[in-house]
Amino acid sequence: MEPRPAAFPPELVAPGVPRGDGAFEAVLDVADLPAGSLRRVTRGDLDVLLAHTTAGIVAVDDRCPHMSAPLSLGSLDGCVVACPLHEGRFDLATGKPVRMPTTGGLDPDGVYHPTWSPSGGPPKTDPPGRKAEARRLTRIRRFRYYPLRISGGRIEIALPR
Ligand code: FES
Repeated sequence: MEPRPAAFPPELVAPGVPRGDGAFEAVLDVADLPAGSLRRVTRGDLDVLLAHTTAGIVAVDDRCPHMSAPLSLGSLDGCVVACPLHEGRFDLATGKPVRMPTTGGLDPDGVYHPTWSPSGGPPKTDPPGRKAEARRLTRIRRFRYYPLRISGGRIEIALPR
C-alpha cells in the first residue's frame, strides 16, 4: 500500500503550528520509514516521532505522554506504540492510552489508576512519601500532532514557529 498520512483528532494539533503550504518542511525520505517503523527527527530542541502505522504516517512529540521517554526507542504494533520505560501503550490513531504505565497515575481525563506488576502479579510496593505522591499525580498528557503530508517521496511536517 502507498504510504499516506494518517488522520488524527483535529483538536490535538500541536499549538502554534502555522497553517498553509509554507508551513511544511521536509524531514525524511518516505523510503527511510518502512511500514511498522519509528524514527526520531530533531529540529532545534524539538524531537519529533515519525511512526508508520497501519493507519498511515503520523508525527507527534518523541516524548512519552507519561514521563517523556523517547518513544522512538519503543516498538510499534499496528497503531499502538509501546514505551520502553514503564510498559505504557498509546494509540497513535486516537491519541489515547491503551495501557497505563506500571507506575499507575492519572489518565488524560484525570482518573486514577493504581500501580501494577508487568508479570500480572500484585502491584509493586509503593511506600508512601513524596515520590509515591508524584507518581500518583503524574497525568498522561494528550498527544500533540504535527500536520504531515507526503510530497515527491519526502515526508513533510508543519512545526510551530
Ligand atoms: S515514560 Fe513512558 S510509560 Fe512511563
